[in-house]
Amino acid sequence: MYADRIRMRGLNDRVMSADEAALLFKDGMVVGMSGFTRAGDAKDMPIALAKRACQQPMKLTLITGASLGHDADKTLTEAGLLARRLPFQVDATLRAAINRGEVMFVDQHLSETVEFLRAGQLGKLDIAVIEAVAITEDGGIVPSSSVGNSASFAILADKVIVEINLAQPLGFEGMHDIWIPGRRPHREPLPIVGVADRVGECAIRIPPEKIAAIIITDTPDSASNNLPPDEETRQIAGHLIEFFQHEVKRGRLPAVLPAIQSGIGTIANAVLSGFIDSPFSELTMYSEVLQDSTFELMDAGKMAFASGSSITVSKRMQDKVFGNLDRYRDKVLLRPQEVSNHPEVIRRLGLIALNTALEADIYGNINSTHVGGTHMMNGIGGSGDFTRNAFMSIFATKSVAKGGRISSIVPMVAHVDHNEHDVDILVTEQGIADLRTLAPRERVKLVIEHCAHPSYRDALKDYYRDALRYGGQTPHALERAFEMHIRLRDSGSMLPA
Ligand code: COA
Repeated sequence: MYADRIRMRGLNDRVMSADEAALLFKDGMVVGMSGFTRAGDAKDMPIALAKRACQQPMKLTLITGASLGHDADKTLTEAGLLARRLPFQVDATLRAAINRGEVMFVDQHLSETVEFLRAGQLGKLDIAVIEAVAITEDGGIVPSSSVGNSASFAILADKVIVEINLAQPLGFEGMHDIWIPGRRPHREPLPIVGVADRVGECAIRIPPEKIAAIIITDTPDSASNNLPPDEETRQIAGHLIEFFQHEVKRGRLPAVLPAIQSGIGTIANAVLSGFIDSPFSELTMYSEVLQDSTFELMDAGKMAFASGSSITVSKRMQDKVFGNLDRYRDKVLLRPQEVSNHPEVIRRLGLIALNTALEADIYGNINSTHVGGTHMMNGIGGSGDFTRNAFMSIFATKSVAKGGRISSIVPMVAHVDHNEHDVDILVTEQGIADLRTLAPRERVKLVIEHCAHPSYRDALKDYYRDALRYGGQTPHALERAFEMHIRLRDSGSMLPA
């Protein structure tokens, strides 16, 4: 049975249905599931678990790499299964349950989750559910389109359930680089000194007796739901490319740019796509999620190598990339997320990090997670891992959201994910603000004039004039700092009446 997929002798008797495997779960367990930005997630186990919970209510702590596909978080939320969820999600139903206070969501830097697990701070991991393309002759578990936290989940869990996905090509074998850090405080340095360095193994190593169940599935990954580039994202890309050219001319960036990290979502993907029409080539990525733009740049001969933790692409790109993995084999490596997002490597390589803000303030603090300062959107993801440690940390956002009712530039962000000490460049379709080496008072004019939408500039200038009356390194009129947010909450728009 599935001889090319389950190659270790003696494991076939552990093949069972997802419904049978669901009986292994008990109320209160801590469960680790594969899946990173919709890629490489377990497909059948969440559905079977939800079915079981509907008959016999139970609550779990669910830890993943990042977001899941196939509405898995929706299904699990509706079944009432989730007591705690970490470290990231993008699902509307789960998001609503989090914001009602029904699911405790722990919004973590993606590189840190398995550090907490290893140190016992998240309790014992009872079960790991890992999607794989194969189990090798010697018991190695070969992940599929993501690595995420799968390796450490499998190593740390008492029991492991492997979902062999026949819809994921066997060609993924050999594209992973599994390296697990040693125990602290005597941990060795992470030996990656170039984006393409291979330092680990091609499969996850665990004692095969820990494999409690093998499920066979044939459901493809959910395709990414990023929107295509639009006029504003093209303008953002244009500003950035002009800025990079300027920096090269001034000798502050090399002509072959440092490796790039690009965050999740429509904006980061669209901005990276903009490099296709730029003079830059031999681009490389040391990132966490490889989106359509990575492969478009490879196909255009602009991208030489991309290291990530997952491949999350549109349906069109899925057919092209997953159907031709050999074409990309020597240009892509998939790593555990604690390696793709490791501060040591990010600092060593001197990355250009490009992430997206919900809102930024006049001093350069960034809110990427909390709508209106209170309601969770997705989570910080890996943006903090990269922003704090990169050579150049860039935040992009459109200057307004919701048809102009929300300004993405505000007097004071209502929640801080990335602070003014880490943010180097802010860019909107209006223009770019280079905040490097500027004092807070020097940044204000740049942020308002270059990045804010014209319909909010006067209000922001008025706020700053008022704030100056109180003095300080970072002047604020505290009683007015959230007046735009309060107006939005009360009237549905930040625009002055
Ligand atoms: N207030 C309220 N809503 C806002 C907003 C604001 N200030 N700014 C944007 N939005 C809304 C948009 O209107 C859009 O809503 P919709 O889905 O109903 O259309 C949604 O947020 C997404 O914004 P969009 O402009 O399409 O950008 P995006 O798809 O690139 O996503 C983030 C932006 C910030 C939500 C996303 O990048 C994110 O979750 N980032 C945090 C995690 C991260 O950075 N990871 C990177 C490492 S991989």
